Amino acid sequence: MLNAERIREDFPILKRKVYGKPLVYLDNAATTQKPRQVIQATNDYYETYNSNVHRAVHRLSQEATAAYDEAHEKVAGFIGAECMEEVVFTKNTTESINLVASSLSQQLQKGDEIVLTQMEHHSNIVPWQQAAKRTGAKLRFLEIDGNGELKLQHNSATSGMCNRTSSDLQLRQTIGKKTKIVAFTHVSNVLGTINPAKEIIAAAKEIGAVTVVDAAQSVPHMPVNVKELGCDFLAFSAHKMLGPTGVGVLYGKRELLEGMEPFLYGGDMISEVSLEGAKWNELPWKFEAGTPNMAGAVGLTAAVDYLQKVGMENVWEHEILLTKLALKRLQEIEGVAVYGPKDAAKRSGLVAFNLNGAHPHDVSAFLDAAGIAVRGGHHCAMPLARLLGTAGSTRASFYLYNTTQEIEKFAEALGKIAAKLKKPAQTAESWAKSDNRL
Ligand SMILES: Cc1ncc(COP(=O)(O)O)c(C=O)c1O
Repeated sequence: MLNAERIREDFPILKRKVYGKPLVYLDNAATTQKPRQVIQATNDYYETYNSNVHRAVHRLSQEATAAYDEAHEKVAGFIGAECMEEVVFTKNTTESINLVASSLSQQLQKGDEIVLTQMEHHSNIVPWQQAAKRTGAKLRFLEIDGNGELKLQHNSATSGMCNRTSSDLQLRQTIGKKTKIVAFTHVSNVLGTINPAKEIIAAAKEIGAVTVVDAAQSVPHMPVNVKELGCDFLAFSAHKMLGPTGVGVLYGKRELLEGMEPFLYGGDMISEVSLEGAKWNELPWKFEAGTPNMAGAVGLTAAVDYLQKVGMENVWEHEILLTKLALKRLQEIEGVAVYGPKDAAKRSGLVAFNLNGAHPHDVSAFLDAAGIAVRGGHHCAMPLARLLGTAGSTRASFYLYNTTQEIEKFAEALGKIAAKLKKPAQTAESWAKSDNRL
């Protein structure tokens, strides 16, 4: 069990006030705050050994290179990768997915299928739409039910046929012989739903499809081990796990990365260049063209150290506690409709909701006036918002430094807003018309 009060001491920003009120930061799914240890590590980098990596033989460059390489080792250990060669640093989750989509699309042809889910962030839709456009491949989608879970989760009782589960059978209606890639979010950034990653990956593997996991909302919050999952690729962002902005991670199985074309071309990703052509560098540098984000990598090492010290099991346990409390309190407020599984055990530490037809921007603004930072909008998942019949929602998302008192404060403020905004429910259409910025 972690001690959130003690952890908060490490986060200078959590001491600040907003409009004279103590900040309650509940926008962690967008980005997380940074502990002093991460800030100090990046400062220390700039103050004492700032230099370019993999280039010069001078002392500072050796130190910077050692720290940069160590960051890859650290992340490999954190997610259970075989070796640092399987860990590529990018700019963020978005770039990691673009890298895979771009490189893998060179192996796609007309008639091939790419399977996604209906609950993807735009980062895991648009790159595949583009890959499909370029190659003539087709996109297919695993559907969600009214509870915000993939339909395949509905019934996992054994069906009696060949020892298959009925969820197995539903999976196989979408993932079939033509499927070449299955790319899905581990945890939905709107519904909070934890998808049955192992089950999906197993189904994809059976037919030889490549699996890509968007782990932007899982790696920061729960223990994730790529070997246990059995995935081929997995993407996440440092800034969502206490680390700096500007660093993303792409895990890829070594043999697959070795067989892939680079994404960007230039310095450091080559082993040899002539005027006629070039040979590629070893992994992971083959995919890291140009001067990388050294300070960010050093900060990521400090973030992983911090999370490992607290323990990912403890982070996860704490978030379940906060989510259960938030769900309970929100259900007590008249007019609040929460999206995603009702059962806290099936979801991660975020809760998206609408309030009696009120605009999510209004709800967010009222909460902001109370010092509570949440996110209102479509959360970069427009197709999902449409499926839910809304133009958007308000989302409160939690992390290891949030306390039960903060959840109570949030619920109390929301209760007051609900009383203030009591008005008839709007339809999705009139809502969408009233503000197309969502
Ligand atoms: C599920 C999911 N995937 C991808 C992303 C994109 O992350 P980034 O903006 O760091 O690239 C996010 C960000 O919110 C997300 O929640």
